[in-house]
Amino acid sequence: MSSAPRTALVTGGSRGIGAAITRALSARQLRVACTYRSSRDEAERICTELPVQALALPFQLGDPESAHSVVGSVLREWGRLDALVLNAGMWRGGRVDTLDPTQWWGVLEANVGGNAHLVRAALPALREGTNPSITFISSVVGLRGFAGDTAYGSAKAALIGFARSLAKELGRDGIRVNVLAPGYVETDMTAAVPDSSRRRIAQRVVMRRFGSADEIAAAAVFLAEDATYCTGTVLVVDGGWSL
Ligand SMILES: NC(=O)c1ccc[n+]([C@@H]2O[C@H](COP(=O)([O-])OP(=O)(O)OC[C@H]3O[C@@H](n4cnc5c(N)ncnc54)[C@H](OP(=O)(O)O)[C@@H]3O)[C@@H](O)[C@H]2O)c1
Repeated sequence: MSSAPRTALVTGGSRGIGAAITRALSARQLRVACTYRSSRDEAERICTELPVQALALPFQLGDPESAHSVVGSVLREWGRLDALVLNAGMWRGGRVDTLDPTQWWGVLEANVGGNAHLVRAALPALREGTNPSITFISSVVGLRGFAGDTAYGSAKAALIGFARSLAKELGRDGIRVNVLAPGYVETDMTAAVPDSSRRRIAQRVVMRRFGSADEIAAAAVFLAEDATYCTGTVLVVDGGWSL
């Protein structure tokens, strides 16, 4: 086992929840590689601001070569990987009879198949890691459903089944696998929600507001780092929206 500092890979770390998780893991002294799809400048800026050495890497969810390449870059740079946070996600709304079937399957392929590629690429290194963990970022939409979200909801629900089976596969290796299911969070993904809908949604949240990316990141760090007797757990962080 290497005595080098522990390392994490956070997909979709250039903005929103992933950026907050990147900062929070770095604050815990992990070296973090955060990935971006197109926001290279944002990802690099985040890395320069972190207290511990960090890397910004390009990554395309759903592309197996990209998954192997991003894990390979982490291992070439730092020689180890201890925490994998599968945060990047693709959303495409539309009712089942209006969303083009190719696009519908594309959401599943990217979110489920894409994370499977990453898991496969990362497993050999995680098996050598210290307190190794895989944390999936799902959504309460995958638990409760949402009209107009059959593709996204299917993908996010599939991640829960994937993670629970994976937890059983990897228990003997000491790799914990957990799922975080956020509710409504203030990020670019929800920025387009009109004010009238925002107020209506907030009324249905027990805590009467959207969550912040930092609040989700705190829960992600708990699962990835602190929850040493949790595996196969689904942690809902939604201000009570799904009650
Ligand atoms: N926001 C919410 O209310 C909410 C609620 C429940 C669950 N979630 C889940 O939380 C995760 C993060 O959401 P967010 O709101 O923080 O999103 P966001 O602000 O839109 O940020 C998305 C991040 O993922 C990257 N990304 C997007 N599509 C990608 C793709 N096809 N391949 C690779 N990287 C991609 C983006 O890179 P670029 O910056 O380069 O584009 C960015 O770093 C997602 O899995 C989402 O489904 C969000």
